[in-house]
Amino acid sequence: MALELTDLAPDTLTVAAGRPPREHDSPVNAPIVLSTTYHETRAPEAGDRIYARGSNPTWDPFEEALGALEGADLPALVFGSGLGAAAAALSLVPTGGAVVMPRHAYAGSISLAADLAAQGRFELHAVDIADTAAVLALLDALAGRFDAGQVMLWLESPTNPMLEVAELSVLTDAAHAIGAVVVADNTFNTPIVHRPLEAGVDVVLHSVTKWLAGHSDVVLGALVTSEADLRARLLAHRTLHGAIAGPFEVWLALRGLRTLALRMERSQSTAASLAHRLADHPAVRRVRYPGLPTDPGHERAAAQFNGFGGIVSIELEDVATADALVSAVQLWLPATSLGGVESLVERRRRQPAEPVTVPESLVRLSVGIENPDDLWADLEQALRRAAGRRDGGL
Ligand SMILES: Cc1ncc(COP(=O)(O)O)c(C=O)c1O
Repeated sequence: MALELTDLAPDTLTVAAGRPPREHDSPVNAPIVLSTTYHETRAPEAGDRIYARGSNPTWDPFEEALGALEGADLPALVFGSGLGAAAAALSLVPTGGAVVMPRHAYAGSISLAADLAAQGRFELHAVDIADTAAVLALLDALAGRFDAGQVMLWLESPTNPMLEVAELSVLTDAAHAIGAVVVADNTFNTPIVHRPLEAGVDVVLHSVTKWLAGHSDVVLGALVTSEADLRARLLAHRTLHGAIAGPFEVWLALRGLRTLALRMERSQSTAASLAHRLADHPAVRRVRYPGLPTDPGHERAAAQFNGFGGIVSIELEDVATADALVSAVQLWLPATSLGGVESLVERRRRQPAEPVTVPESLVRLSVGIENPDDLWADLEQALRRAAGRRDGGL
């Protein structure tokens, strides 16, 4: 019996999916194809490559691997950035429709949706995505005003950077009951931790820039769906609007994907140990991490996810203490973004687009794969210096 990708566990898929056919003397890794155009020796037919804005052989193995990893029946679609993928996903909402989005989703997704709403493309409703009753009530109210296919429910769970956890299946079922399309940004969890398509979600979004590529050296995005009509519309949008990926970036992303499971395992276990230590630290006012039993999202995360992710958010005494912490780290890198092998630290409200409901003193930690004790030692010395500065000494 032939081995099927669907028989394989996610950590095996990261390594085994997206390989060239087993032919004698052929490479085991997909090559990079840099050509912008393809030989045409007959009249074009559906599925022909023709021109590299529409298709590139370097995309195929990555798209196959990510589609398989998310448990989709179809290959993923890779985009030039996560936000390029978000623009394509939002294009599924017809003019005059409505989008429901978490108020603490990634700031770029919110800004993009707000920009489109300001242009009159659709209504935008910001919700506390962890407040299931409030989201259900809003969907109910929209049902009376919009037809099937006019509403999109945008999920991000856990949210960036507040790490709120949504009840994915409950919200997805309610959205489908009113004919809404459901998109889930799965950047934080990755398919190693959760597969939203299995909870009924229609389209999964990734900033491939983050955990999937994993080395902070590539900007890419992706969409994944098992619905052929949606994939065709998203592919048409990508080809027409041109937010395509460079072949070299996609090759690097597939190379990064090969170690995703190991990187996630290490990041998650270190994140959990840091979260516990931070929760006991006197200079830390609050730790947000779904893996902590005291976290409001813990039970939901434990019930839905296969892990708690590699991001920890902490709140400090005030903005100055948070900025002092970020300045005092020596191993952690003070930089935006997340999901790379190197640990990053950022006070999110430094970014002007960050929602004002994110606490000013919130510092987001993206936990990499360094030695956990080294990471803790650096955080501890930085916390001591930041808090000591406030108490009049260093
Ligand atoms: C959760 C999430 N979604 C989407 C994006 C956007 O992706 P990109 O930066 O690849 O455009 C980001 C970027 O930080 C993100 O954190």
